[in-house]
Amino acid sequence: MEQFKYYAPTKILFGKNTEAEVGELCKTQGASKVLVHFGGSSAKKSGLLDRVCGALQEAGLHYVTLGGVVPNPRLSKVYEGIEICRREKVDFILAVGGGSVIDSAKAIGYGITNPGDVWDYYSGKAPQACASIGAVLTIAAAGSEMSNASVITNEDGWLKRGLQSPYAYCKFAILNPELTCTLPPYQTASGCTDIIVHTLERYFTKPGVTSLALTDGMAEALLRNVMRNARLALQKPADYDVRAEIMWAGTLSHNDITGDRSQGDWASHQLEHELGGMFDIAHGAGLAAIWGSWARYVLKQNPCRFAQLAVNVLNVPYSFGNDEKTALEGIAAMEDFFRSIGMPTSISDMEIELTDTQIKELAHKCSFMGRRTIGGFVTLNAADMENIYRMAR
Ligand code: NZQ
Ligand code: ZN
Repeated sequence: MEQFKYYAPTKILFGKNTEAEVGELCKTQGASKVLVHFGGSSAKKSGLLDRVCGALQEAGLHYVTLGGVVPNPRLSKVYEGIEICRREKVDFILAVGGGSVIDSAKAIGYGITNPGDVWDYYSGKAPQACASIGAVLTIAAAGSEMSNASVITNEDGWLKRGLQSPYAYCKFAILNPELTCTLPPYQTASGCTDIIVHTLERYFTKPGVTSLALTDGMAEALLRNVMRNARLALQKPADYDVRAEIMWAGTLSHNDITGDRSQGDWASHQLEHELGGMFDIAHGAGLAAIWGSWARYVLKQNPCRFAQLAVNVLNVPYSFGNDEKTALEGIAAMEDFFRSIGMPTSISDMEIELTDTQIKELAHKCSFMGRRTIGGFVTLNAADMENIYRMAR
């Protein structure tokens, strides 16, 4: 096992009605004026936004609101938030929503605490700070509530770029599974897929990195649990216990408990981000469309690892002495699962007919115009990226 550092500073409040405590939590963090940041309509419609604002008022806190964050959150909204925060002297940002809202909050937080254009920090410059962020989570998916990451889309060129730094961890996250009962089936399934792939990205480690058996066991248990509960959530969307299983799995899938992010692969994520930037698709759906092709492309690097996943998670019987056969059956079984919850397993399943020119453009952007490779398990250059997009087409 490699050396690793584990840092997970986010305070979690889990369970029914925990959002009632949000005012006191913000106060404990030293907030005096809060930006309440949210998405389209769901938090308003459910009454959550009113409850959150009421709790802030009760705690004696001033606040301003900014809604309208869209999935694949946009840089223009981030600029709007930065301006409001400066004008209103906001010192705490409260995200009420999913990964998109939390990521937008993080970007605003960078914007008000670092000099210059915030996009520079999503283009390679290292930030030195981020404002304090809290989250009331409404969808189990991206894991941003406990991750150090945020992903923003710049409409100028439709570039979707991530930024990771230790400053971006939420101070607290409120996880009330009941809040996720209103999710449409596609978002539930897409969220579960993202949770699964966060775990898989860590499972497929860099060559020479062996994970602890305990870590593997936790990852495999998490995967089995999410697969089981994803199906149940589609049958019984309002079942609290099912939603609770998925919600906690979502947070744990991206807080490094199932493996150190820096030792993992992440190629599927990078390939998906370009698809999300270009076609504005749901992140989890994009991952489902790409993962099988990635897996088949890199399989020969370590068939044994894929075979372990197949046997321990996907109920594939081990073909004695033939890891590759077991591995391929495992990949097919994972794709069967994605299809069973209504997810695509190819790009055309999302009604996108990729042209050769678009494939080249995706690979060009994903390789940062040829300046970077992706993937920890197997290093992929622009030509490899093209091949995978073509396989997934
Ligand atoms: O805008 P509203 O009306 O709230 O609708 C949202 C949105 O349309 C809806 N929704 C959320 N909670 C709901 C609900 N609808 C009904 N009831 C509820 N309780 O769901 C839709 C998707 O929301 P979004 O926040 O976009 O979903 P998700 O959490 O999947 O976030 C996706 C974004 O996170 C990024 C993705 O790339 C994508 O941009 N990621 C962020 C990561 C991170 N920061 O660590 C890691 C991930 O790998 C990912 O890349
Ligand atoms: Zn993801």
